[in-house]
Amino acid sequence: MSTPPTICNAVQLEPEFAEKLAAAGTVREFIGTAPQNEVVEALRGADGILLRPGVVIDEMVLAAAPDLKIVATTSVGYNAFDVDLLTEHGVALCNTPIVLNDAVADLTMAFMLILSRGLMRFEQHSRSGAWGRREALPPLAHDPKGKTLGIVGFGRIGKEVARRAQGFKMNVLWHDVFEEAPTGSPDGTYRPLDDLLRESDFVSLHTDLNPTSLQLIGEREIGLMPPHAYLINTSRGPVVDQQALTKALESNAIAGAALDVLEDEPPDPDEPIVQLPNVITFPHIGTATEETRKAMRGLAVENLLSVLAGEEPPAIVNPSVLG
Ligand code: DGY
Repeated sequence: MSTPPTICNAVQLEPEFAEKLAAAGTVREFIGTAPQNEVVEALRGADGILLRPGVVIDEMVLAAAPDLKIVATTSVGYNAFDVDLLTEHGVALCNTPIVLNDAVADLTMAFMLILSRGLMRFEQHSRSGAWGRREALPPLAHDPKGKTLGIVGFGRIGKEVARRAQGFKMNVLWHDVFEEAPTGSPDGTYRPLDDLLRESDFVSLHTDLNPTSLQLIGEREIGLMPPHAYLINTSRGPVVDQQALTKALESNAIAGAALDVLEDEPPDPDEPIVQLPNVITFPHIGTATEETRKAMRGLAVENLLSVLAGEEPPAIVNPSVLG
């Protein structure tokens, strides 16, 4: 009889998911935020690891767990993992796409509405007790209707944003990394990046973080945006050159930004961009709903159990390891 697999888990799971793991092997809980030497010890002999981004899977872990078959993350983003290293060691890296598309697209539209309708300043007005003092009323806001939303990164989430924006009667432009301009999409109109930046009232970023998208939006790109335009980022902080964005916002070269992600998370307490009056920041909450986070945990468990059972998982970053 073969020994049941050792499954190391750093994720707080619903009983139904915890039971599935327990039925599949010996579960060892570990604290993903522990010092790395303790993490390595905790992962010794693991066949599968369930974790959140932030747990570092390095050479030391792989040496301590030579039979490791899968690292299952409860995130769609996998920029925190060394995919080449895992692939070299034949370890599957599985993520949680699709189940979070709506949550991130909803948040993007919430940001667009906050910015266009000036919701933060009106809320502050009422909170400050100024309601009723006409002379203290903040300036009027703008309708999203008829405005142009430029979507950079037209994958699954970008397309969900486009569909929602059409519901708000906005014009949708999009850009993605293609060698040639593709033919039409019912969800919007393709533009080269520079044209999209020049023509959009709102630019929303939906690329993953990879060497091509690192600082994709820098000083030159921000300089193409009109002064009344807003930048929305619910993807990854390093897609934007944060220093260049800070400079542009400080000088009102663009109207403002809504950022769910920053270059460093959490940011330094003195990080200037967080304090700017024309910026709203949120602590990386794109997927922070009960339903979506549960779906992500469920998918991560399914990924892990499939690989341990020798089956194809629902989502995998490096399918070549499946042979
Ligand atoms: C993801 O799933 O990648 C989200 O950004 C949460 O980390």
